[in-house]
Amino acid sequence: MTEQRFVHAQWSSRLAFILAASGSAIGLGNIWKFPYLAGDNGGGAFVLVYLLCVVAIGIPIMIAETMLGRRGRQSPINTMRTLAGEAKASSLWRYAGWLGVIAGFMILSYYSVIAGWAMAYFFKINSALFEHIDAANSTRLFEYFKSSPEFLGIWHTLFMVATMFVVSRGVSGGLERLSRFMMPALLLVLLILDVYAMNSGGFGRGMAFLFNPDFSKLTGEGVLVALGQAFFSLGLGMGSIMVYGSYLPPDVSIARSSLLVTAADTLVALLAGIAIFPLVFANGLSPSMGPGLIFETLPIAFGQMPGGWLFGMLFFALIFFAAITSAVALIEPAVAFLSENQGMNREKACLYSGVGCWLLGLGTVFSFNIWSEVKWLGKTVYEWVDMLTAEIMLPVGGVLIAIFASWVMTRADSEAELKLHDPRHYQAWLILVRYVAPIGVALIFLDALGVI
Ligand code: PFF
Repeated sequence: MTEQRFVHAQWSSRLAFILAASGSAIGLGNIWKFPYLAGDNGGGAFVLVYLLCVVAIGIPIMIAETMLGRRGRQSPINTMRTLAGEAKASSLWRYAGWLGVIAGFMILSYYSVIAGWAMAYFFKINSALFEHIDAANSTRLFEYFKSSPEFLGIWHTLFMVATMFVVSRGVSGGLERLSRFMMPALLLVLLILDVYAMNSGGFGRGMAFLFNPDFSKLTGEGVLVALGQAFFSLGLGMGSIMVYGSYLPPDVSIARSSLLVTAADTLVALLAGIAIFPLVFANGLSPSMGPGLIFETLPIAFGQMPGGWLFGMLFFALIFFAAITSAVALIEPAVAFLSENQGMNREKACLYSGVGCWLLGLGTVFSFNIWSEVKWLGKTVYEWVDMLTAEIMLPVGGVLIAIFASWVMTRADSEAELKLHDPRHYQAWLILVRYVAPIGVALIFLDALGVI
């Protein structure tokens, strides 16, 4: 029954696909991760490289991934297997699907911990602790929360339960309703925070940090982080857009939808950066304080603005919704695989993958407290999971998708699936996925390794 439903279900409209795909793209990556990575990697030059990666590599791969999904109409592993068969290519391609299933699973394990922080802040932000809070106290409070494995563990558990509940209800009911109202509201709240930041006294410095590229501050590793963030933020390279593409009706333009989703995703990330960095500078904080950045800076704004507690609650509620629509996308490839290939019903598939993710997530929970000194090659468990997924698995998965779509799949098939009216657009896409994306990613890898 599950398989039937999976193969036949389709999005009710183009809008539903766009909302769900932007629901997947817009999440903690935009609001939590982009600002902290930009802060850690020197600001402007990182942002510029990030934007370049989004345009030259991200958009073409998003088009490719959606296209493969619509053509294969199954979970990523089965889609890759079917399409490889169709193109008479090696069945080893299914491992590209596998890579994605594992990457999504690993990402969700820590994603859930961070989303748990946002949930906790939703409940805490209206307490007296945050009233007129200054930078020192905000930092102290965050450190205090972070130091408790029980505290982080409980919120991680709650977020995983919420995610698996939504996933177990299936694609159309669970997702479409969630993403419809969340995005405009999130945009509005970010804009209001931007206006607040403009008057915070640190706007000039914040903007200069974010948009004035200083390449002396960007390392080879920083370039790789920017590339990984482009994949992460757009939700690419692991088959979740492929799953969404598999529900897409044949008459919807993949290219146009991808452009829209990318534009929305990039806008939200930039708006988040514009809200945060002025506050960082106005309050004498350091931009490179790592994963705690938004949790330490934004409460200062909420604590000072009139009615800030209410606004803060709204903000963290929206982050929660943004995170859960991404979380659903992260685990969908694993759930789809378990239900299609292992004959599990959807509920059972959810339970197994949810429990697995939760367990792995404990590694991240502990990375911020009792295991903070447990490091291998200088990295904590959280840092390893993050680095392996965002900097290696997603870019490799993305390049495999690009290669498959442009070298393995026949030109006739991809042309028929993309239905671009202008042949020059098709040609441009083909050059980007055939050459620019694989060569670009390879060069960035070599650069980060110090080979070039
Ligand atoms: N794009 C999401 C974010 O920016 O928070 C995270 C994500 C979702 C990554 C789905 C990968 C994915 F397949």
